[in-house]
Amino acid sequence: MYTWEELKQFADRCTRCPLCRTRTHPVMGRGSLKADVMFIAEAPGRQEDQQGIPFVGPAGHMLDELLAAASLSRDEIYLTNIIKCNPPFNRDPSDEEKNACIPYLKYETLLIRPKIMVCLGRVAAQRIISPDFRITREHGRWTERKGYWLTAAYHPSALLRDPSKVEETRRDFLAIRDKLRELSL
Ligand code: URA
Repeated sequence: MYTWEELKQFADRCTRCPLCRTRTHPVMGRGSLKADVMFIAEAPGRQEDQQGIPFVGPAGHMLDELLAAASLSRDEIYLTNIIKCNPPFNRDPSDEEKNACIPYLKYETLLIRPKIMVCLGRVAAQRIISPDFRITREHGRWTERKGYWLTAAYHPSALLRDPSKVEETRRDFLAIRDKLRELSL
């Protein structure tokens, strides 16, 4: 097993996919290593690439609002992405990039052992929950797999583009809080 610091060192030197040539900083997940809830989004954006920290741009403000609505804060969750480097022009990550990067997420999961994993957006939900996951229809649904509770919510960037989805996403976040209570966490 690796420590978080070791994983970060691997990521900092990583050349497993071509994004290493265009990134400024790899963006490892952040938050509590004892978190009961792990949020998994897609890939760092431009501002995250500059700072090496997840969700520091406008989508991060939206995420903080949703977390606050569910009485959660970044200190008590763990927040990470399917891929750790910024795809240029914010395009979707390719299968090659996702496959190259997924071991980092596997080790983060083994290290943290969250009870709940929340996929933020289609890309994460299709990788973690099911390849044919339809975020519009299936966000807010819960499934249990190998001792982990899995669910998905809209990506905060999607809410910035379409604020009409904010209310239902807030309800999905409230359901995360309720699930934590149900599990007595
Ligand atoms: N969007 C993501 O999917 N991840 C980040 O870290 C920031 C924006």
